Amino acid sequence: MDPVGFCTQTRLLIVAGKGGVGKTTVSAAVARMAADAGLSTLLVDVEGKGGLPAVFGYDELLGYEETVMAPQRPGAGEIRARTLTPDDALLEYLEEHGMRRISRKLLSSGAIDVVATAVPGIKDILVLGKVKQLEQGSAIDLIVVDAPAAGHAVTFLTSASGLLDSVRVGPIRAQAQDVVDLLSNPARCQVLLVTLPEETPVNEVVETAYKLEDRVGVSLAAVVVNGLYPPRPGLDADPAEVAERQGLRLPATELEQLRAAARFRLGRAALQAEQVTRLARSLPLPQLPLPYLFTTEVGWPEVGILARALAAGVRALPIERAASSSGTVDASTVSPRP
Ligand SMILES: Nc1ncnc2c1ncn2[C@@H]1O[C@H](COP(=O)(O)OP(=O)(O)OP(=O)(O)O)[C@@H](O)[C@H]1O
Ligand SMILES: [Mg+2]
Repeated sequence: MDPVGFCTQTRLLIVAGKGGVGKTTVSAAVARMAADAGLSTLLVDVEGKGGLPAVFGYDELLGYEETVMAPQRPGAGEIRARTLTPDDALLEYLEEHGMRRISRKLLSSGAIDVVATAVPGIKDILVLGKVKQLEQGSAIDLIVVDAPAAGHAVTFLTSASGLLDSVRVGPIRAQAQDVVDLLSNPARCQVLLVTLPEETPVNEVVETAYKLEDRVGVSLAAVVVNGLYPPRPGLDADPAEVAERQGLRLPATELEQLRAAARFRLGRAALQAEQVTRLARSLPLPQLPLPYLFTTEVGWPEVGILARALAAGVRALPIERAASSSGTVDASTVSPRP
């Protein structure tokens, strides 16, 4: 599958995974992959954290208005980003429903939190309702939502169906219905899962995948396996022999350090490979591998490396995949969960 095909299967792509596995980085990499393929992308940050703009070398927090993160380059699309926090979404909802004057007062007095507590899930519905509005209204090719961390992602995406069960009539029900329709339509929305090749994140991503499938009926695009150690041929060779072949004699302490480093790296790579296999057995979704980058900071150049790796993974996918029933987790074909 080519990156344009992958990025245009659905207008909305929700990036979800456990805390710290690289959701924000992957969201940025997807946007860059889309931009490099000539598509325009809007990145939506639902938590209002600083991670997303930092990846683009932008040192201010994002706002509710769209900000251009990467301007259009020849042959490449624009990347914009914005926040869409529950407070933002609620304010807009109230203003649109003729309550402009009281809305800010409600927000500043904290009365909103009382409402949110009384109607669980209302905040998620408001955010996703607004996402739906963007999905239907804007001229952007792809909207990427950097979702909250795994446990909360499930709540975030299941709130709408939960509300449908408890709220029988009225605008909240209508909004919840719209959100359910959006999330469960494989032609409109997909979730891209992210994990690290480690035991707990793998367990959690498998659990999240099943919950999202069962409770939301959302289509799962693929699972990004982030932070894979790139293979380094020759690590199993003895450093003393390699040095000798080059006419070098290394001190014993240095040789021991080299051996220890090689052992560590090979050991980690073997553990990662084990988790990748376990993930493949537990979750019948295509995997998109991303390398671990040995750098102190992931910025725009690194996002470029990850976007190219992502594009390579996408190209290796079968053409007709995703946004179809083949993109769903079919429990009957799955071996025991971890
Ligand atoms: N492939 C990678 N190579 C090296 N560092 C990475 C890679 N992917 C992510 N990181 C780094 O790991 C850290 C966590 O990544 P990121 O912020 O994207 O995770 P997250 O899932 O969005 O976290 P949170 O749940 O806190 O929002 C960041 O410092 C990021 O720069
Ligand atoms: Mg993040």
